Amino acid sequence: MKPQDPKGNAVIVVGGKWGDEGKGKITSRFSKDADLVIRGTGGANAGHTIVFGGKKIALHLVPGGIVYPQTTCLIGQGVVIDIQVLLKEIEALEEMGVPNVRERLRITGRAHIVFPYHKELDGLYETFKEEPVGTTKRGIGPAYIDQGARSGIRVYELLQPVDVLERLIREATTPHNQLFEANGMDEVRADAKALAEEYHKYGKMLEPMLERDPDGLTSKAYREGKKVVVEGAQAYRLDLFNGDYPDVTSSNCVTTGTLLGAHLSHKMVDKVIVVLKAHDSRVGNGPFPTEQEAHIENDQVLPYLIPYTGDIIREDAHEFGATTGRPRRVGFFDAVITATSKDVLGADYICLNHMDTLGEIGKKLGSVKMCTSYFYQGEHIYHYPDDIRLTGEVPTPMYEEFYGGWTIPSSARSYDEVPEAAKKYIKRIEEVTGIPVKYIGVGPDNDDLIVRDDV
Ligand code: IMP
Ligand code: MG
Repeated sequence: MKPQDPKGNAVIVVGGKWGDEGKGKITSRFSKDADLVIRGTGGANAGHTIVFGGKKIALHLVPGGIVYPQTTCLIGQGVVIDIQVLLKEIEALEEMGVPNVRERLRITGRAHIVFPYHKELDGLYETFKEEPVGTTKRGIGPAYIDQGARSGIRVYELLQPVDVLERLIREATTPHNQLFEANGMDEVRADAKALAEEYHKYGKMLEPMLERDPDGLTSKAYREGKKVVVEGAQAYRLDLFNGDYPDVTSSNCVTTGTLLGAHLSHKMVDKVIVVLKAHDSRVGNGPFPTEQEAHIENDQVLPYLIPYTGDIIREDAHEFGATTGRPRRVGFFDAVITATSKDVLGADYICLNHMDTLGEIGKKLGSVKMCTSYFYQGEHIYHYPDDIRLTGEVPTPMYEEFYGGWTIPSSARSYDEVPEAAKKYIKRIEEVTGIPVKYIGVGPDNDDLIVRDDV
């Protein structure tokens, strides 16, 4: 018997480097006529700005597709939920006039809850390290630790009778409270009774949105040929397994982890879009081969008269964190990382944002560079080395230089409007990575996007 399964119909959007690539723009494009939009991983450490009726809102948990009134939006099992953030987002969306938010938003009962003590732990764990990760301190890592320890509290647990919830929170927080006490942090000890009362109420508020059959929801969408979009969070090099461990987030935010978190299998996938910028950025610590020098210290911009290359890129591209406001580390485009990630991400297409910005940066710098190979351990290599932590050597980028002074108007919608110099840059990315650049971001708005029909 031959398998009779339908073709996959889900578009998966994942970050290609260290996050903040502008996944919201391409996700929004596909969500416009989608039936089901799913968030699969991460928590309130992620964030993107959504525009509705001329008003802006930063969403950290609700899928951005909620602004399109025909969508059902699912917060999937890979997400860790900060319930206060979530409730605020729901209210803010309603205030903006987004229709039927509570009817269209579905939340899997399996998703774990981030509690205030998780945020305290995030900060405390960092103090034990000589080389801190630079987390966003949103409690993400500690919430996933509790999930792995099988003492986490899920949305389902919030709906248990208050005395049961209290016991579960007490069991979960026994080791945490001991740690707080041992570190002179008595004031943040978790009070199981108070938390149980408060969070049970939140659970009740979420109950109408509780999805008790999330696998059935995605299965039905697949079988009925509905349009499904998955909003990835974070990115390839921040992935817990694939990334720059330990300078990573605590979830699996590559394609496969995103599918798991979003209640999908490989069969349900239509295409995978890897989102990148024409330059690179990173927040937090960890290797960044193409990083350019900038006047930044302790997450602050220092005063300066003459900018370094990194200052020019940061200012032109407005590289400040959406969640924390921290100035981002910036650098030139690293094509080697993307070539290395092609198959493990299952990349079909690249969405390359900020091509307009790189043109402007090029006007100031005279030229722009792209890293197309590395010098590492005495050799010239064409892949991202896996043993950086062991050798202690960050690969030295080998650059190709491009005339960067192109201008792309944000109104451009056709590839014909892209100047030759910019096309040359894009073509080189395709050659080195082997992935077609089908989508090109040319401005700040969600609609400022070129979709090429020649690839
Ligand atoms: P955490 O996920 O808050 O624990 O942070 C771990 C690392 O991932 C830090 O370097 C963060 O700056 C980074 N990170 C987490 N979420 C994002 C994001 O949405 N964009 C960019 N970096 C992120
Ligand atoms: Mg972001």
